[in-house]
Amino acid sequence: MSSRAEHPPRLPAHPLRFGPISLRAWRADDDDAAFLVAAWADHEVARWSPVPAEPTSTTAGRWLRQAAADRTAPTAIDLVIVDAVSGEPFGEIGVTEIDAERGTAVVGWWLVEPARGKGHATRAVDGFAVWLFEAWGMSRLAAIIAADNVASVAVARRAGFAHRANLPDGRLVFERRAGSATVRSRP
Ligand SMILES: CC(C)(COP(=O)(O)OP(=O)(O)OC[C@H]1O[C@@H](n2cnc3c(N)ncnc32)[C@H](O)[C@@H]1OP(=O)(O)O)[C@@H](O)C(=O)NCCC(=O)NCCS
Repeated sequence: MSSRAEHPPRLPAHPLRFGPISLRAWRADDDDAAFLVAAWADHEVARWSPVPAEPTSTTAGRWLRQAAADRTAPTAIDLVIVDAVSGEPFGEIGVTEIDAERGTAVVGWWLVEPARGKGHATRAVDGFAVWLFEAWGMSRLAAIIAADNVASVAVARRAGFAHRANLPDGRLVFERRAGSATVRSRP
């Protein structure tokens, strides 16, 4: 496996499927904007993830246009976690701080409340990581998680990330390297 990321990295041509879920690009339409507005109002999403101060359809439209520009650069890639059959949106997964030279990036995720407790985040994080390693030639992914975000720490561990460091602000740095195995993988 290459230790150097592909130049430029390509987006998936089709949704990436991992069992009952798929990952697809955000669409700059009313449905995705409405989903974002609702998700940003979710207490847990707002508590642990960076969300706009004003979660309105205008902000969501701007966010979706920025996401499209970012993935063209690509400076960041954000995908929607959806039900693979119905297409119902469940959450978000993405990478920022993409360093194509070093093959590194920071991955983040969230699910709306009804989609939690079913393994969808673990599947999405594990599958997305493997895709970034194999299709992009990424070598190392980091996840930065508040120490008291128990659910997210569990997702990172189940998806094969190991605790590497503590930041001064109390957040934990988890890391998964290319070639490392998933801790727990169920269909
Ligand atoms: C973090 C977050 C995505 C975790 O969601 P989650 O539903 O707990 O995570 P998963 O989708 O992996 O589900 C895990 C649960 O489903 C169950 N599960 C079912 N099938 C599973 C499978 N195939 N694989 C893993 N877990 C499975 C597990 O038993 C687990 O339940 P348990 O924790 O009671 O044992 C969610 O809490 C969230 O969005 N929080 C707010 C935003 C946030 O914190 N984002 C991260 C910022 S760093």
